[in-house]
Amino acid sequence: MLSDEDFDAVRFAGDAVEYVDQRLLPHTVERRQARTVEELEDAIRTLAVRGAPAIGVFGAYGVALLRSALQDDAAFDAAAARVRNARPTAVNLAWAVDRVRGSADMLAEARAIHDEQRAVDARIGEAALELFPKDATVLTHCNTGPIATAGGGTALGAIVRAHRAGRHLRVFVDETRPLLQGSRLTQFELNKAGVDATLIVDGAAALTMQRCAVDLVIVGADRIARNGDTANKIGTYGVAIAAAHHGIPFYVAAPRSTFDFSIQNGADIPIEERPADEVRGSAAHRDAAVFNPAFDITPGRLIAAFVTEYGLVRPPYADSIPALQDRPNIAALAPNA
Ligand code: MRU
Repeated sequence: MLSDEDFDAVRFAGDAVEYVDQRLLPHTVERRQARTVEELEDAIRTLAVRGAPAIGVFGAYGVALLRSALQDDAAFDAAAARVRNARPTAVNLAWAVDRVRGSADMLAEARAIHDEQRAVDARIGEAALELFPKDATVLTHCNTGPIATAGGGTALGAIVRAHRAGRHLRVFVDETRPLLQGSRLTQFELNKAGVDATLIVDGAAALTMQRCAVDLVIVGADRIARNGDTANKIGTYGVAIAAAHHGIPFYVAAPRSTFDFSIQNGADIPIEERPADEVRGSAAHRDAAVFNPAFDITPGRLIAAFVTEYGLVRPPYADSIPALQDRPNIAALAPNA
């Protein structure tokens, strides 16, 4: 059983960045350390550390560590770029690396990013409370809990917050092919929090909406464009279409660091393609041609609201999302301002 300490998904350990290896969860809890650029890049690329905010925190500590190890500026620039580009879709990684690189004290800045993530997640949980009826059936996709953010979690954090506030929840958990973030991580985190969670295969989401009185869908995000188009784990788009068909509100919980204000719409979001063997699985399919996009883009028009640290962000997104840019940083806000 994971302790709360184990859920500290990422932490700075002086001469290394320490992380819980998410590839081994839930059966094995193993903390590992990354010191070199190769180890940092590998941990992100192989999904040992995953989830948009968590790779941001990890990358931030990693770049601060590399700065102290590499005196040569050109060598540091090249190493920091490798960390920044280890995965292309989640904008939190590039955002965090750029923020650390632009600061005078890189380690202090990385720590601030981590502290802010905890505060941001708590605020997202508060802001989402009004979306949950007293008795609510919820569906979610992928994993958005503490191990995905290095804080309290976004969509999953909101579910746990609602549960603790006394809502009677039943949560359907998409298993999330091909790497099973839902069945390995979300089911596990919800069980740990005492939330009633039921695992379904991804293909059962539409039928579950049709037959099981789902009240709302809530998921996380990896990158959100100015018009609300949202990149998240592959399969999210299909869930949003099914939710729209059934008249079920579809919410996205994400911090401001997941919004890419430089991108007008989802067509400009890079979608990571991952190795074929993640999909092939059995020996019978060893030679199958494979298309393995790790993310898809849900059009903003299918999203009822975004849940952020600044509260609910509603349509029209062309107005409400760019306005987020002008809000004060979370560190400047009182806990519940
Ligand atoms: O490939 P992954 O497991 O890193 O994908 C993660 C997701 O799609 C999450 O939903 C997203 O990063 C939000 S985590 C709070």
